[in-house]
Amino acid sequence: MPEIAARAHLQTLIPIVERALENAATRWEQVDGVAVTRGPGLVGCLLVGVNMGQAIAWARKLPVIGVSHLAAHVFAAQLEEPEVRPPVLGLIVSGGHSDLIRWQEDGSITVIGRTIDDAAGEAFDKGARILGLPFPGGPAIDALAAQGDPRAVRFPRPRAPGLDFSFSGVKTALLYEVRKRTSISDQARADLAASYQEAIVDALLQRVEAALFPSPAGHLPPPLAGEGGVGAGWGPSPTIVIGGGVARNRRLRHAAQARLGTKAHLVIPAPELCTDNAAMIGAAALIEWDRRGPDPARIQLIAREPHRRPVPVPLRHAWTDGCCRSRPPA
Ligand code: KG4
Ligand code: ZN
Repeated sequence: MPEIAARAHLQTLIPIVERALENAATRWEQVDGVAVTRGPGLVGCLLVGVNMGQAIAWARKLPVIGVSHLAAHVFAAQLEEPEVRPPVLGLIVSGGHSDLIRWQEDGSITVIGRTIDDAAGEAFDKGARILGLPFPGGPAIDALAAQGDPRAVRFPRPRAPGLDFSFSGVKTALLYEVRKRTSISDQARADLAASYQEAIVDALLQRVEAALFPSPAGHLPPPLAGEGGVGAGWGPSPTIVIGGGVARNRRLRHAAQARLGTKAHLVIPAPELCTDNAAMIGAAALIEWDRRGPDPARIQLIAREPHRRPVPVPLRHAWTDGCCRSRPPA
């Protein structure tokens, strides 16, 4: 599959760039620089993209800058609200990511929580398959859930440690719920979709709240108690950005507003800026450019962002300590 994806990049990249210039009524002479995703992602695809970016830059004598795809989902907020500045707590939820990040004052990005199994979008896609809904599952569940009762079935909330996420348990619970029924009416299917969606949304927002508002003792609220305080330094009105394909989910957008809207400055970019898009790579390039200027001739790829796991320390030290770990085996 990675091989097929890389080949597809080879075939589609040049026509896409040409079409983008055409749609924007822009000539090459008007382009000031080239921004390209340098990761995290499939190395074969990244190599195709980065080589093309560098080749364009070389041929047209333009500067080139490689940016993090993950960071770009958060930086997309500046396309919506140009005045958004760090520190920002970012929740990036897509088919490949469920990451909680901190966009630091110095412009860097620190991952403070991530999924230990499925990504949120994967949970939607797999859940939809169990319910007999089409791919991609997120939009299908989103639509069906609108006719269902989110309290019909109480699915378990994930219990990954600290600020990490886990969605394999709720997916298995859905499978058992479906299996124990001999037949499922349309209403029951909608109820299951709504309840399943509610569990995912609740789990996501619970971690956001835990990262921002630990208990006065510096501990995360139940069921995260004792996992360590990471609430320092967000300022009186913290900014939260939610991005990635799952941020299109209407229930997530609504619940985030209801739960966090009065306690924080919440930015959820327009749906088309949440799904993977080139505009967010451009926005990220401008931010990165201010921080460090263009890249040298050979851009370093990132296969995966390092994870800075919060440790149980007093609040004032929360961001100076921690350890990196790589993704656990799938
Ligand atoms: O960011 P994205 O477009 O691509 C990457 O995975 O990088 O995200 C795609 C994911 C899919 O898993 C899809 O099911 C999910 O986003 N998604 C949604 C919705 N729209 C897309 N999930 C829940 N509700 C939606 N409305
Ligand atoms: Zn993405």
